[in-house]
Amino acid sequence: MSEEIKVQLTTQPGEKPDSTNLSFGKFFTDHMFIMDYHKDKGWYDPRIVPYAPIAMDPAAMVFHYGQAVFEGMKAYLTESGKVLLFRPDQNMKRLNRSNERLGIPEVDGEFVIHAIQTLIEVDKSWIPTEKGTSLYVRPFIIATEPCLGVRSSYTYQLIVILSPVGAYYSSGLEPVKINVESSYTRAVRGGIGFAKAAGNYAASIKAQENAKKEGYSQVLWLDAIEKKYIEEVGSMNIFFKIGGTVITPAINGSILEGVTRSSVITLLQEWGVPVEERKLSIEEIYEAYTNGKLEEVFGTGTAAVISPVGELHWNEHTMEINDGKIGEVSQKLYDTITGLQSGHLPDTRNWTLTF
Ligand code: COI
Repeated sequence: MSEEIKVQLTTQPGEKPDSTNLSFGKFFTDHMFIMDYHKDKGWYDPRIVPYAPIAMDPAAMVFHYGQAVFEGMKAYLTESGKVLLFRPDQNMKRLNRSNERLGIPEVDGEFVIHAIQTLIEVDKSWIPTEKGTSLYVRPFIIATEPCLGVRSSYTYQLIVILSPVGAYYSSGLEPVKINVESSYTRAVRGGIGFAKAAGNYAASIKAQENAKKEGYSQVLWLDAIEKKYIEEVGSMNIFFKIGGTVITPAINGSILEGVTRSSVITLLQEWGVPVEERKLSIEEIYEAYTNGKLEEVFGTGTAAVISPVGELHWNEHTMEINDGKIGEVSQKLYDTITGLQSGHLPDTRNWTLTF
């Protein structure tokens, strides 16, 4: 796609939030990117406009049948005033995998990255620079055709919004408590679990609310069939360090293929830390815990970065991990990933896009 992006600047710039108290996803910048799709025209009319509510027909298919996918990235401002995006090509590949599964038309990933860069340049003054903060980039696609028939929509909108954020968990790098969910199911193979589809998150909310009432930050999902094998946590992939080896569930069709997840696997391999992607049961975790071999547990995600888990609760068992403190590998991964993302560490793997 080569259409030029039109830019309409706001006449009423908003007030910037206090960057020492951002939390996650509560504030939005002055502008957003929008692009339309029609089945006879393809993607068209890319534009940057003032951030504002969007008018939508109440019959728009997204409201009824949930054709909605999204992505998440973080932009950092370096000391020399450049913007860094971490592996945006990977997010675009995943966006198109999600699109394919939900019957949404493919996007030109390179063009969307160009659009994101243009949008960030317009709202560059919104990138927070406080330690632990960044500008979260949220591209999403929704089905906009007004029609109550169940089929793929003929029209869509791709929208990108930007949000200055702090840590995803209010506890920051303090280890979180997680409940292993034994009744509800998030996703099943053959379904949409591997896609970054809005519906996967809708399916997760009830269990998460229940866990929150019991004092847990999130739930750890088990496989839908046997309720035995570890899948992922609500907003992150999960890793376990057992007897010196770091293990994460293999991609199996119902787990999200996280960009941070794959970066962590690469880093661990480079550091010579044994790392395995395989089926991993909750019994194996509990057995490792009882044998004193469960050394570290951490989640990975764009929003969550590296989030240490200090306690896992499964049925009547409570497993305290590393005395509720962040482990050595988790800390090293956190420092390395955030160091690469923010430009404090040299990018030797061509992971960052600088502009
Ligand atoms: C992300 O890590 O970017 C996510 O999309 C997770 C969550 C905030 C839904």
